[in-house]
Amino acid sequence: MNSISNEHDYECEEALTLLWAELLEMNLADVRSDTDFFKAGGHSLSAMLLIARVQKGLGKLVPLFALVENPTPATLAQYISNMGDRKIVEEPKAPDGSASQTERLLGYNNEERRDRRNAWFDKYYSLAITSAAHAEFCRRIYGENFGQHGMADFVQIDQLLAYMKPIPGDVVLDLGCGYGLISEYIFKKTGASVVGVDLAPKAIAFAQTLAERNSKLRFHLMDIQNITFPAGTFSHIVSIDTIYYATSTKSILEKFIEIGQPAVKVGILRTFPIRTFTKETWHPDRTELAVLLSGAFGGYHASDLSKEENEHWRKKVQVLETLRDDFIKEGNQELYEFRYKEAKYEAGIEQFRYMFVSERSL
Ligand SMILES: C[S@@+](CC[C@H](N)C(=O)[O-])C[C@H]1O[C@@H](n2cnc3c(N)ncnc32)[C@H](O)[C@@H]1O
Repeated sequence: MNSISNEHDYECEEALTLLWAELLEMNLADVRSDTDFFKAGGHSLSAMLLIARVQKGLGKLVPLFALVENPTPATLAQYISNMGDRKIVEEPKAPDGSASQTERLLGYNNEERRDRRNAWFDKYYSLAITSAAHAEFCRRIYGENFGQHGMADFVQIDQLLAYMKPIPGDVVLDLGCGYGLISEYIFKKTGASVVGVDLAPKAIAFAQTLAERNSKLRFHLMDIQNITFPAGTFSHIVSIDTIYYATSTKSILEKFIEIGQPAVKVGILRTFPIRTFTKETWHPDRTELAVLLSGAFGGYHASDLSKEENEHWRKKVQVLETLRDDFIKEGNQELYEFRYKEAKYEAGIEQFRYMFVSERSL
């Protein structure tokens, strides 16, 4: 049976106060029982670190949403006291093998995970472009077959371009460009030159065939960990479902400033698949990315695409189920299974998706 206590645990509150000071880099004397973790500078990454420290130090596995809803040492201590010996609901095992979303996010870029993922991306790009079933899947999900792997359809890409407004003469960097067909779309829509980078050799090999026919397109096999372009090259930098793969968001934003022109515009589409947050408690301003964009660019504009994202994954599951036989008939069971496993998992998690656009202040 669960033991639930309503007594306030001052020892626990004291331990939490120490963690607040440590993770928010505050003097202990300045942390009060009502210091709000997020208002005092906490963000998604420091929140996850706090959860990990609470588990290690206090032996309590607290869900992330509990911190968002109880953001002070006093209220979180009360929450922990109320937890008694209850365990939080187990999260399903993610397709990449991690046991929970927290573990998945914290370990997302460890070496072993990156190697496995990168090998898989290349395999994906070797299969997807020749599969008629996959082409049909993309048409039904995104509106057109660009061999997309991300979550952005043309409504989202057009929205991003409408905020960023590249024009002929501008130079756009497309991070994680895959086959380069979205880069080509950006060129066709805006007239700007587009440079795409990706670390999947099969994707870049295909993209090079587009560049051979169009001098406004260029593609490079490049890891976003090590982007090398001359300073001041780009007027615009877009990252469509790729920023997650940078081990340090802070460093990549600094890199954007270095390779960007003085008034460079940055547009980032990304999802936050954190199942324990709720719509009421999660907000773009609470993300680490928002904090870092404010620091590096002096601000950002954020649009909420969470509703679209949750619908997107549900639709992927449905469409894949109707196309299963087509994938199998053409011998693409592996491709089908990857996409289905991923879609099924993601459709079972509440997703938060935001588009961030920042412009460097001159
Ligand atoms: C989720 S897909 C998005 C692709 C494309 N932007 C789209 O919307 O369909 C992520 C892309 O990033 C690439 N990628 C992953 N890690 C990378 C890294 N470290 N450096 C460069 N590209 C990377 C993958 O090969 C893949 O093409």
